[in-house]
Amino acid sequence: MMDQAERLRQIIDNLKLRQAVSQANLLNNMRKKTAKVITVTSGKGGVGKTNITVNLAIALSEMGKRVTILDADFGLANIDVLLGIIPKYTLVDVIYDNKNIFEVLSEGPKNIRFVSGGSGVEELVKLDKVQLEKFLGNISLLDKLSDVILIDTGAGLSDNVMSFVMAADEVLLVTTPEPTSITDAYALIKMVSNRDKDKKIKVIVNRAESANEANDILNKLSIVTDKFLELKLEPLGYILQDEMVIKAVKMQQPFALSFPKCQASRHIKDISSKILDVKNDKSGMENTGIKSFVSRLVNLLNT
Ligand SMILES: Nc1ncnc2c1ncn2[C@@H]1O[C@H](COP(=O)(O)OP(=O)(O)OP(=O)(O)O)[C@@H](O)[C@H]1O
Ligand SMILES: [Mg+2]
Repeated sequence: MMDQAERLRQIIDNLKLRQAVSQANLLNNMRKKTAKVITVTSGKGGVGKTNITVNLAIALSEMGKRVTILDADFGLANIDVLLGIIPKYTLVDVIYDNKNIFEVLSEGPKNIRFVSGGSGVEELVKLDKVQLEKFLGNISLLDKLSDVILIDTGAGLSDNVMSFVMAADEVLLVTTPEPTSITDAYALIKMVSNRDKDKKIKVIVNRAESANEANDILNKLSIVTDKFLELKLEPLGYILQDEMVIKAVKMQQPFALSFPKCQASRHIKDISSKILDVKNDKSGMENTGIKSFVSRLVNLLNT
């Protein structure tokens, strides 16, 4: 038979447990409020950023994440072409035309959402405080709708793209095995390292001939970065050269949807699991969400 002291201890233990659980839930809810903002970039252009963004979005969505893509490549609207969707509005309409963020969101396949930046980002620096606050209030709604926000940029090294890189929670840097692409990727890593050595850069080698070739490049980039820069690179993975990618581009469909079993689709799935793998995430950093991303962005663009 249980004596009174023991019973009391049990009750207290139970209470403590319940308290811990409710605290964890609270924390969890708080964490869910902001999305992880990932900027996809490259040193050299044409290396596969847009394809990786779109197909990563599909893969992450298939893993149960709510994903929004922001097309921040102002030159050429890339994402619409790859998805075969023409959005009616862009962020410019939110800034100047009183549209709210929901009116500007397009629905893509697999529940992914998509916002076109238009020339909106260039306009952001022209806004006064009140206009900017209104815009921030609107854009922060994306945090509630998304677990992950992927931002597709143009090729790096311009001030604009660098601002997107520096403002993000996480950076996906894409390179191909071409020497020019690798040296431009390194140039970008160096620029980031000079500004913030704690920035998380995850590297993907796209269009590799073999796993060996890709891993070799990832290793060399890490070694050189370790040796000459303070920043720590994270090799994330690779995607092989795959004819199905080219075929899907011509069909204006994401390869992860049209050819889910092709090599590129398998590699994209590996990469998305790694992105979601919290055990692998050594930084312990919290996501800061789209609202603080845009605030940081505007500050960076203004300096
Ligand atoms: N893994 C791959 N296998 C074969 N072809 C690929 C692969 N990845 C990309 N490509 C080819 O490269 C082209 C360019 O890809 P994408 O538009 O995604 O590059 P990008 O980095 O976004 O270019 P930009 O800098 O112009 O925005 C694709 O249309 C496709 O033909
Ligand atoms: Mg692109």
